[in-house]
Amino acid sequence: MGDQRSSFTGKLGFVLAAAGSAVGLGNIWRFPYLAAQYGGGIFLLVYIILALTFGYALMTAEIAIGRKTGLSAIGAFKALDKRYAFVGYIAAIVPVIILPYYSVIGGWVTKYLVAFISGQAPVADASDAYFGDFIAQTGEPILWFSIFIGITAVVVFFGVEKGIEKVSKVMMPILIVLALVIAVYSVFLPGAMEGVKYYILPDFSKFSVTTVLAAMGQLFYSMSLAMGIMITYGSYIKKDVSLESSVKQIEIFDTGIAFMAGLMVIPAVFAFSGGDPAALGKGPSLMFITLPKVFASMPGGTIIGAVFFLLVLFAALTSSISLMETVVSIFQDKLKLNRTWSCVIVLLISVLLGLPSSLGFGAWGDILFFGKMSFLDFFDFISNSVLMPVVAFLTCIFIGYVLKPKAIIDEVELAGKFKRKDLFVFVIKYLAPICIVLILGFSILEAMGIIKV
Ligand code: TRP
Repeated sequence: MGDQRSSFTGKLGFVLAAAGSAVGLGNIWRFPYLAAQYGGGIFLLVYIILALTFGYALMTAEIAIGRKTGLSAIGAFKALDKRYAFVGYIAAIVPVIILPYYSVIGGWVTKYLVAFISGQAPVADASDAYFGDFIAQTGEPILWFSIFIGITAVVVFFGVEKGIEKVSKVMMPILIVLALVIAVYSVFLPGAMEGVKYYILPDFSKFSVTTVLAAMGQLFYSMSLAMGIMITYGSYIKKDVSLESSVKQIEIFDTGIAFMAGLMVIPAVFAFSGGDPAALGKGPSLMFITLPKVFASMPGGTIIGAVFFLLVLFAALTSSISLMETVVSIFQDKLKLNRTWSCVIVLLISVLLGLPSSLGFGAWGDILFFGKMSFLDFFDFISNSVLMPVVAFLTCIFIGYVLKPKAIIDEVELAGKFKRKDLFVFVIKYLAPICIVLILGFSILEAMGIIKV
């Protein structure tokens, strides 16, 4: 980060930029498959409760820390208290782990875009096999992964993010409208109503600790929390912008899009497979298998599919660019590299880390972590279900007991009254740290097969 810290022109500029980072594959690809896998309505309910408590408190805290110190994560923690500088470092590892596998999925999106444009889109009843055959290959998925991360690197290298951002500001509203159209269409497919019920009505018998962990990891991931990103964004905001209402708007935006993506995918799973648990548990492949079936059944579906994947590609690119930008600037600052070398090294590391995630569905498919996770699932688990909760926990302890909530409250009150102040203090000091420790403990034991919850 340079000395001349630029700042957002106003609240709208900040909210749009933060929402641009937040909205990406996390909302469109990750949320629906987790909701499908972890019991539908119960996952949605837990997610919304967490967003209103944890998400809201943590996002407010991170943005306020950034604005207070005017620094990004590593510098901000160090400036506030030297003993807590390590939290900034752990936060900085997260995007290094996420970027490679994010780009593998970005590659899948690119492949689907090209398939729809060139008229080779999967036909409905062959959709499962089409996707399975594609990711099981060695060369093809790696090629698309390379194209996606290559585009990301070129944009970051030439510093032309602004161009992409402009395009994506136009694309994003179109994506929302198109997703809405697809969701409405999905909901009215024959047999889809069961899916709508599954997605909206919570079934408490499906509740488990892993549901909460999955929802919590998704919340951090989707809102770009617990990895220092929002601290950086906060450092760019002017003092008179209301943090409380900005956070509210970002949350509504992000959660709204995730909700709609679920509505696009989950009812369709029921329409095409009758809610078969195996179909619901497809994990990372769910969107790529289900949506082509929806498109195949729609009039003009090939064109709609092509437009859809183009829009998703832009949402994914703005996120991957911001992820890579973060990693590049950490390397620049900490390893004292110039920008060119930093870009080259980050690209090489990301390609190396991304290869196992790509190969894990084919050639290296026999290597499973904890007996069930592929490489991609494993990287996803380590970042979302381990490191991010750890960072979130340490951030809460630091703010609740070392820095004291008052520092954050004062920062928020620079722009008027902090309405949900009491909730903020309760979540940061008690609710979040206690829940995170319990959930993390149980789920690590569970992943290792020591207990069954
Ligand atoms: N929130 C993004 C999404 O939903 C993913 C993401 C996680 C991200 N961390 C980030 C994007 C950091 C940009 C910067 O897809």
